[in-house]
Formats: sequence, structure tokens, C-alpha cells
Amino acid sequence: MKSKNTLSGTLQKVYDPSSFRRLGHEMVDLLANHLESMQSEAPGKVLSYQNPAEELAFWKDHFAGDHDMSDTFSTIFAKSIKVHHPNYIGHQVAVPAPIASIAGMLSDLLNNGTGVYEMGMASNALEKVITDIVNSAIGFPKTAGGFMTSGGTLANLTALLAARKAIVSENIWEEGHDQPLAVMVSEASHYCIDRAARIMGLGTKGIIKVPVDAQFKIRTDLLSEYLEKAKADGLQVFAVVGCACSTATGSYDSLEEIADFTKTNNLWFHVDGAHGGGVVFSNKNRSKVNGIERADSVVIDFHKMLMTPALTTALLFKNELDSYETFSQQAAYLWNAEKAQEWYHSGKRTFECTKLMMSIKVYSILKAHGQEVFGENYDHLYSLTASFSNILKNKPNFTLLVEPESNILNFRYEPKTKEDLNLLNEEIQKQLVEAGNFYIVSVVLSGTRYLRCSVMNPFTTEAVFDKLLNEIHDIGNKFL
Ligand SMILES: Cc1ncc(COP(=O)(O)O)c(C=O)c1O
Repeated sequence: MKSKNTLSGTLQKVYDPSSFRRLGHEMVDLLANHLESMQSEAPGKVLSYQNPAEELAFWKDHFAGDHDMSDTFSTIFAKSIKVHHPNYIGHQVAVPAPIASIAGMLSDLLNNGTGVYEMGMASNALEKVITDIVNSAIGFPKTAGGFMTSGGTLANLTALLAARKAIVSENIWEEGHDQPLAVMVSEASHYCIDRAARIMGLGTKGIIKVPVDAQFKIRTDLLSEYLEKAKADGLQVFAVVGCACSTATGSYDSLEEIADFTKTNNLWFHVDGAHGGGVVFSNKNRSKVNGIERADSVVIDFHKMLMTPALTTALLFKNELDSYETFSQQAAYLWNAEKAQEWYHSGKRTFECTKLMMSIKVYSILKAHGQEVFGENYDHLYSLTASFSNILKNKPNFTLLVEPESNILNFRYEPKTKEDLNLLNEEIQKQLVEAGNFYIVSVVLSGTRYLRCSVMNPFTTEAVFDKLLNEIHDIGNKFL
């Protein structure tokens, strides 16, 4: 096609289609080779660790040097952790389905703003298609609705704002509030709930942390006592948050019992299902979230076990009207009818003004592979983690924290002769990362440090886990 591009100099180069085509093809080759290598017998290292000062010095040098873009991209690639590697068993980050990454490329070039309908017709409509599918998997009634937003942290804050408006006062957005307010949540909840409550001005008193049991699930038998105590302290509790599941141990709260409690006490019931809520797509594991359909709002991250690149989150409401009430903002240059419930202007209901075309990534997985693949991934990862737990229990000097309910496994290396086991396990995790053959993390629970695996990658196997334990044993023994 003959170009009408009359720009000169650098701007002409910036938008040059032929260099985009050349680099794009090279990039696809680089990434396809990478996927092949990750699925081969010899995938190499998960990461080539360098300390932050060396890494920064490297990039400063690189910036000053003479490198073309092919070289730049392959260097960034080489110096990044590989989540598709079977030995990646670390943080709860999705191992993206390649089709969703291709959709990401489409999204990044089209760059539709999405908050306003015309600035993302396809992406807004697809948000509705996707949230309808998720609502139906949750078991919500026809009144349900939802939208997509940038991450579980933001979605949890948005849900709590909606809860406050629904339970405390309709005019809270205009008038603020004088009375001390509070939310109740398990002490094992993700830190973003605590952060959301503080952003909302609730302060330390306003985040009531209910103790957990030996399985790290919220003690529902204590909910009434904690509510009464809050009232006696002059606090108005407006919401209870259930974890589905918790971050540190992957434990599912009893959602049925929280639903009973919130119903009796006229409180908002929010489910933080950022990590484990997608289990609604599984027949086998669906019962872990029984009662989720009784929640007022639910957060589910696609960028965890639903194989979508970050950030891609759904916030679902049992009663869609609640989702329109959260923000009552004047923005005449964006929307004509402030109060109208227009699903197609997704920015009316989200924090974001400009928003990624995140729905197209999820849609591409659904369209190419069907929604069953979501349940299949959950089932596969959960049963793999159960096998890991069995392997671990048969290894001397390893202790399991708690039987895994999801894809998260916490354990310790505990040789009989070593006194400071916290330090030993901390050192083991550090040395594992520096060696780069495996990636796992660690967590401190009630003063005890555990090694922590999140099994995110369907290509991880029992043999990988066995090798990991051997490497831990070898590192640990160097300290004895
Ligand atoms: C249970 C839970 N809630 C919320 C979050 C925060 O989600 P995001 O990282 O998408 O902001 C996480 C992240 O790990 C989580 O595990």
C-alpha cells in the first residue's frame, strides 16, 4: 500500500509500519521459541538473578550504549523472570495463555480508552459478555451486573465504597460521614482490604480483624461477639469480607456462614475471590465457594489462575444497580446523562478514566478455548498441589504447615540439628532465587518463616517438586 506519510525525521520513524512489522515478527519468533523451550526437556533457568544495584548499573550502561531494538528486546527478555517455566512456583501471577498475549498486542496498539463507549465499543461490549458469564458461573440472579477494572486491590476498594453507600447512607458521596464506620474481615485477608478501609478514612479501629482457626479460615463463631464489641465501641459495621481464598495459605472462608451472619445483621457481604474465586468455573472444586452466590459483591482476578495477563479483574454485583451508585460524578464532557445506568460507559462505575482494553484478553481465551478451560486449570493446579503435599510428607526434615485447599503450599525445612530455623529457611529461599533454578517465595506466619509455593503453572510436575526439595535439602545442609 502506498504511504501518505509526509512526516519527516524521527516522527516518521516512530510510526513506520515496516519496522513495526519486522520487529513484531521477530518478537513473535522470540516468544514462540521461548514457549517451545519452556515445554522442552531443558528449559534452562527461571531467572538470572542480579542484585538491584548491578541491575540498575547494567541498564544505565545499556541506555548509553549503541543497541538496536531487536537487541534491546532480547536483553529485556533475558533479564526477566520466566513464569512459563515449570520451576516457576512463586508469586500468584498468571501464566498467560498465548492467545491472551496476542490480544494484548492488539490492545496496546489500538489503545482504546474504554471508559467511554465510543472509546472502546468492542471492549465495553465484551466486558458485558464476560461479566454476564462470570455472574452466571457464580450463580447470581438476573439482577446481577459488573465491570472490569485494574486489579483486585482497586476492585476491593470499589466494592467497599459501594457497600458503604448502600448500607450507611445514600448521600455519603456528597456529604461524607461523621460516625465511625468499620468493616469486619479475617486476620488472614490480603493487605489491600486493610488499605482500602484506611483509604476510606476508617482508620485502625475501622478494620476489625477476626481471628482464624487452625486452617486459617475466619472464626465465624466469633462474628457476633466482634460485632457486639464494635457496637459497644461506637462503631457502625457496614460490611463483612470473606476470603476465597486467603493469600498466605490459600484457605477458603466458610461463605455460607458469613452469608447467614450478614443477612441476620443487615450487613453487606463482600467476597474477595481475587485468587480463588475463579473456582466457580470448576465442577470439581466449586463447593469450596458454596454461598458465594449469596454475596452482594465479588472480586475475581483473571490475572491469577484464569491465565490472563495482568491487570484484568472482574467486580461483580448481585444487584447491578449498586454498581452505578458508587461514584456519582459530574463529568459532562464524558457522559450526557450522569444518573443513567449505561453499562456501555464502563468508566461510570470504575476508578479508571482511561482503562486498558482488558476484556479482549479474557474474551480471546473464552472464544478460542471455551470457558471449561478455566475450571480445568483450577482442577489441575489444585490436584497438583495436593500431590506436592503428599510428596513433602514423605520427605524427612520437611514439615507442612497445613493441608493445601488450593494451589498454595507452605512448608519448612527443619533439620533436627539447626537452632534458628527462621533464619535457615530465609537463607534457603534467598539462595534458591540467586541460583535461579527454581522460584519460590517465603512468608512469616505468627513469627514463623515458611517456604511458600503457589502452583500457577500447569507445566509444573511432581518431578519438579521433588527436585526442588532436593535442592532445598542441599542448600540447607551447607548451613549445618
Ligand atoms: C486474596 C487476594 N486479594 C487481593 C489481591 C490483590 O490483587 P491485585 O494484585 O490484583 O491487586 C491478592 C493478590 O495476591 C489476593 O491474593
